[in-house]
Amino acid sequence: MHSDASNINRPDSLSTGIGFHRSPEGELLCEDVRLTDLAREFGTPLYVYSRAAVAERFRAYEAAFGDTPHQVCYAVKASSTKGVLELLASLGAGFDCVSGGEILRALEAGGDPKKIVYSGVAKGETDIAFALNAGIRCFNIESPAELDRINAIAETLGHVAHVSVRVNPNIDAHVDAHVATGLGDSKFGVKLTDVVALYEKAAKLPAIEIEGISCHIGSMVESTEPFMKAVDVLAGFVNELARRGIVLSHIDLGGGAGVKYHPDDKLLEPAELIPALVARVAEKVDVKGIEIFVEPGRSLIAQSAVLLTTVEYLKSGLFLRRFCIVDASMTELVRPAMYGSYHSIEPVIPNTKAQRQVLNIVGGVCESTDFLGNDRDLAVEAGDLLAIRTAGAYGASMASTYNSRPLPMEVMVDGANVLPMRRPQTALDLTRDELPLGLAGDTSAAAEGARALFGEALEFARSRR
Ligand code: LLP
Repeated sequence: MHSDASNINRPDSLSTGIGFHRSPEGELLCEDVRLTDLAREFGTPLYVYSRAAVAERFRAYEAAFGDTPHQVCYAVKASSTKGVLELLASLGAGFDCVSGGEILRALEAGGDPKKIVYSGVAKGETDIAFALNAGIRCFNIESPAELDRINAIAETLGHVAHVSVRVNPNIDAHVDAHVATGLGDSKFGVKLTDVVALYEKAAKLPAIEIEGISCHIGSMVESTEPFMKAVDVLAGFVNELARRGIVLSHIDLGGGAGVKYHPDDKLLEPAELIPALVARVAEKVDVKGIEIFVEPGRSLIAQSAVLLTTVEYLKSGLFLRRFCIVDASMTELVRPAMYGSYHSIEPVIPNTKAQRQVLNIVGGVCESTDFLGNDRDLAVEAGDLLAIRTAGAYGASMASTYNSRPLPMEVMVDGANVLPMRRPQTALDLTRDELPLGLAGDTSAAAEGARALFGEALEFARSRR
């Protein structure tokens, strides 16, 4: 993952690909829609997704598999908004979920339970019971104790749980430590030395049916090589288990393909990764016709969205720094603050009047780590609209309401149509469900008064957009 440290912004240096493009006048559009129109209608911060871009990425995975039996299970955590899931479900995607809540979203969005796999190291009783009742395709078991719990709940509910073991393959995927998941001492998956015994145990449990095997080596993987190592590890188990009479029907190689946030990042295209996986599985796995699952998140959705934000103020520090303070922050896009990640930040309409300067793009949250991009060479002034690129993955889904900031609005653009994906949230939604303690007497009149004033302020700001 490219760190944001010491980067200058290189606007338009990323391939704009499908979905986002500039008009001859230099204005950034999403499909046939002007981003400035969206900002005016919905306000900012605003996530804008391109339907065509999502569909193109999903079809790239499907096409890369060709006739090979397979299932693409989109990793819901990357962007879990129901509209996004609905689009992917309509294209035939399955889903990799990591909580009952994600399974609920996938089903509410029309997802097929028979295409849902369920990963996660801390599966709780509600989640397991829900997944069993919903009839999901497969639990990816992450510990021996979890297998016992799932068996017990399945027996009680009168279900049979279909399971894979998520193996921790102890592979270095050469990714940032923040997103490495397949090293032997990470919390994910079952350690290599427990795997065979766990399958032998599972084979004897009354409410368990063995399906497959899975792993996930990490995120932002830039080459096929670590995936080949993962196939080799899983293939070793598939073959060993077959010798012991346990024949698996699928092999799930997780997600992790890298995308291009920065010109120096390498995009690992499905057209490169998938044929390599298919060939390696064919070469190494003795069980013929085994189905291949993948769980891509970032590579399906990252490039399909931008986060629009408006410049609020420019100011300088006492010494060197110049700040561009925007209305988005780490609460809408936490990746720069959390991992130091780089996102290209570009004016939606080039500002020909403003002076170019090197700016730190920061949000309004009261944390020094709240930045969106450092040392960006930009010509902007207050009121300008900026697009933070490649924001579709781990953007809106990691948003928080810290500092009492509402969750960002999200829309999907489809040609010239704009489909809102949520009702806009305001601070009024955040305070509504909190309960008074009664320590300050009856606060209900004060609360109603404050809410009315806040509502008026929202109307005032809306009327000026
Ligand atoms: N499958 C499993 C079991 C996973 O844990 C993950 C991601 C994926 C699939 C999807 O991986 P992808 O294709 O998106 O790389 N918040 C971080 C990324 C965390 C990834 C966690 N697991 C970020 O913003 O970079």
